[in-house]
Amino acid sequence: MKIAVVGTGYVGLVTGVCFADLGNTVIGVDSDESKIRRLLAGESIIFEPGLAEMLATNIKRKRIRFTTNLQEAVDACEVIFIAVGTPQDKKTGEADLRYVWQVARELGQTLRPGATRRIVVKSTVPVGTTESLERRIRDTLRRRRVKAAVTAASNPEFLREGSAVRDFMEPDRVVIGTRDTKTASILTALYKPLGAPIVSTDPRSSEMIKYASNALLAARISFINEIANICECVGANIQEVAAGVGMDKRIGSHFLAAGIGYGGSCFPKDTEALVYIAGQGSVRSRILESVVAVNKAQRVRFLDKILHYYRGHVKGRRFAILGLAFKPNTDDMREAPSIDIVRGLIRRGARVAAYDPVAISIARPLMPAGVEYASDPYGAAKGAQAAVILTEWNEFKELDLRRLKRLLKTPVVFDGRNIFPLENMQKLGFRYISVGRREV
Ligand SMILES: NC(=O)c1ccc[n+]([C@@H]2O[C@H](COP(=O)([O-])OP(=O)(O)OC[C@H]3O[C@@H](n4cnc5c(N)ncnc54)[C@H](O)[C@@H]3O)[C@@H](O)[C@H]2O)c1
Repeated sequence: MKIAVVGTGYVGLVTGVCFADLGNTVIGVDSDESKIRRLLAGESIIFEPGLAEMLATNIKRKRIRFTTNLQEAVDACEVIFIAVGTPQDKKTGEADLRYVWQVARELGQTLRPGATRRIVVKSTVPVGTTESLERRIRDTLRRRRVKAAVTAASNPEFLREGSAVRDFMEPDRVVIGTRDTKTASILTALYKPLGAPIVSTDPRSSEMIKYASNALLAARISFINEIANICECVGANIQEVAAGVGMDKRIGSHFLAAGIGYGGSCFPKDTEALVYIAGQGSVRSRILESVVAVNKAQRVRFLDKILHYYRGHVKGRRFAILGLAFKPNTDDMREAPSIDIVRGLIRRGARVAAYDPVAISIARPLMPAGVEYASDPYGAAKGAQAAVILTEWNEFKELDLRRLKRLLKTPVVFDGRNIFPLENMQKLGFRYISVGRREV
């Protein structure tokens, strides 16, 4: 099948490369010329395990190419995926659809007479957007007096950054939301090689499935973080509690790791967008409002732990920040807890030496002035008062802790991701302060 993917970010690039790998011919379109230039040179513009290799293979096989010219893609492909960003409107919390509407306008302007095109919305969008997109494109065509057949479908994406290629190739389900049977059967055929169950539904329910899924996952994280905070008061260990709770088949063990809260490009904006959607319909989503509030408070609580340990006197003290990305195996810094925690330390006069295996260049412009960057965790730790773990990279789980202890000025570790066993840290002689577990 010939497919166009508009937007070559985390979702669009993975979608395009994976569809190419499944034997389709794909054109990736992006309005960002520098991204397209790098992709044309065969460079994967995001860090995602397995993606660079798959991209190279499929460029070589001539199954994927890239352009900034939407017209070229619209002329060549019957199926056009939209995977542009839907960031958060910082004032209202709602999804900002300007990029989606821009693509809708451009599609309406570029479709040729007699064309039949299936527009598939992969971006996470508020309920009703897919229908409204179809209407907008048809209106533009009418104004241009162009007769072309356009149907739009919703096909939300559930991949996780850090394991995006695997998630795309082995999804738990594929959701296809359209009332048009031909479009549904084309999309079903496209996804058939993945062997995943297909949920066929209407566009609105499809859009809602995405929001409800993200909201529930975010709720689990905020829930377990709240339980972790209670564990700290009552002397229970959150990891043992979560393991015991998660063994209940009705509950399951996923998304029960306590820490400093979720970040990234999806959970923060999608939970707030759903709160906004509920409000538009005069429904107050008390659960989701709390999910958001608990998450925002969790990183502040961790920063407070550090400040409390030094009785508020962090001025002039140097901290080794281990991990900047919002989660491991990605260079995505959007809404990363590290941003607030590092800012909080710097604002109080602390000095920071940060290390992340892949996110430093993306983190740099988001971090306050004065942060130094190290080329490995030990470089960051050298002469620091304490190490502060903010991302659970495997590299940190495998740290030579004896070496770390030697390098630190005082053997103190604040662990926002609970990556080390308490007994181990105690035995090695660290002061170890984590989340939902006793201090050792
Ligand atoms: N990142 C994730 O893990 C994830 C997972 C599931 C769903 N989503 C959703 O997928 C969508 C895309 O997310 P992302 O993380 O890939 O975003 P992103 O910011 O990484 O990529 C979006 C891309 O769209 C391009 N773009 C914007 N306007 C354009 C236009 N008019 N024409 C062509 N290209 C244009 C941008 O240049 C950018 O490269 C969002 O709605 C997001 O909520 C993201």
